[in-house]
Amino acid sequence: MRAERVAIMTLQNLGRPRAEFLPRPSSIPGAAKRLRALLRHAGFTFSTAVERLGIDYRMWTGNTSTCDKVKAYLAQRPNDRFDIFLRFFTLCVPTDPAVLLRWMTPQDIELLRDMNLAVPTSDGCLISPMSLFECRGQFIATDSITNQTEDFNFVMPLLPESYEFAASTPRAGVDATLDLCTGSGIHALLAAQHSRSVCGIDISPRAIAFSKFNLWLNDACNVTFEQGDLFAPVQGRTFDLILANPPYEPVPQNQSNPGENYYCGGPMGDAITSRIFCSLEHFLRPNGVCQVIHMMVSFDGGTHEQKVRKWLGRLSDECSVGVISRPITFRSETICGATAVEFGITSIKRHAKGQGDAFPQQHVSAKVTG
Ligand SMILES: C[S@@+](CC[C@H](N)C(=O)[O-])C[C@H]1O[C@@H](n2cnc3c(N)ncnc32)[C@H](O)[C@@H]1O
Repeated sequence: MRAERVAIMTLQNLGRPRAEFLPRPSSIPGAAKRLRALLRHAGFTFSTAVERLGIDYRMWTGNTSTCDKVKAYLAQRPNDRFDIFLRFFTLCVPTDPAVLLRWMTPQDIELLRDMNLAVPTSDGCLISPMSLFECRGQFIATDSITNQTEDFNFVMPLLPESYEFAASTPRAGVDATLDLCTGSGIHALLAAQHSRSVCGIDISPRAIAFSKFNLWLNDACNVTFEQGDLFAPVQGRTFDLILANPPYEPVPQNQSNPGENYYCGGPMGDAITSRIFCSLEHFLRPNGVCQVIHMMVSFDGGTHEQKVRKWLGRLSDECSVGVISRPITFRSETICGATAVEFGITSIKRHAKGQGDAFPQQHVSAKVTG
């Protein structure tokens, strides 16, 4: 759940509007490889991060207890290179260059500055304006997890749902994959490892700048990122695997509209989700799978599957639908009368032509941790 947004640190004055800071592929030869090696040698993995922070899988939900644990961690002296890197690269803590120089060379610092991953502060420290995460061996830059702002279309950090979604994605080899609402590009880059080609789409130019940086950083060659509204950039193309972690939070119109930020799904939360399912018949190949993160809001006791099947229209007859959800307590002012709100993953399997098989077990058994 991303409904509680994290605010752990006070915004640092970076000397320029924050919106101007984008990660930048460096033209220095070998730069991406060198940064990956630095991070790997420090053991920079998600599992080590959650272990050090003591906050387990749901590390970034932004609730008070998580924020308190992160603050307590930050109040301790860093023990080793991992602690320094977690503070600097993920938690965006201003750091004395002399401390960084214990673990990297002056040339490495130049690389970081060239990529905009290190910016000087007025008191002689270096700070990263964005956060770096590891997920299944990929290194992913996003906007800063500890300095969230509504000042611009903020690129979503890797939240627990990003990791849950990555864990439940079918990883069988496929020809073509589409990642809608790609944000940092995380799911497109993970899919690159088992797809011949991948396309990631986001409406936000800022997200596309981050996803292209992450493509460069991870050295994938079979992924393209395009800016656009859902399926618009891929009209006429079809895919074996379609992934989407769309904005799904119910938000009143006077606060924000779908497409303006990473979380607003319109007053009922389903503005983007419904459009994805309504268009699916044109883009999902026979035998293809589509997985979408959902927040399901019910006012009448109807099931999420019934809603999804209505959106699928005539494609519904050719599909199995698998829904894995858990009840959540989240309510916003537009859904306060809801009888049920659930969060989880919807999986659609389009049958091969002439077949009507049940949903394959591997797709319904993925666990959504509560
Ligand atoms: C929840 S974030 C997903 C981030 C990433 N996929 C992840 O799981 O970590 C949703 C993304 O959808 C994008 N978005 C919103 N409306 C869109 C639309 N109509 N078409 C394409 N992308 C959209 C937002 O810019 C945002 O980057």
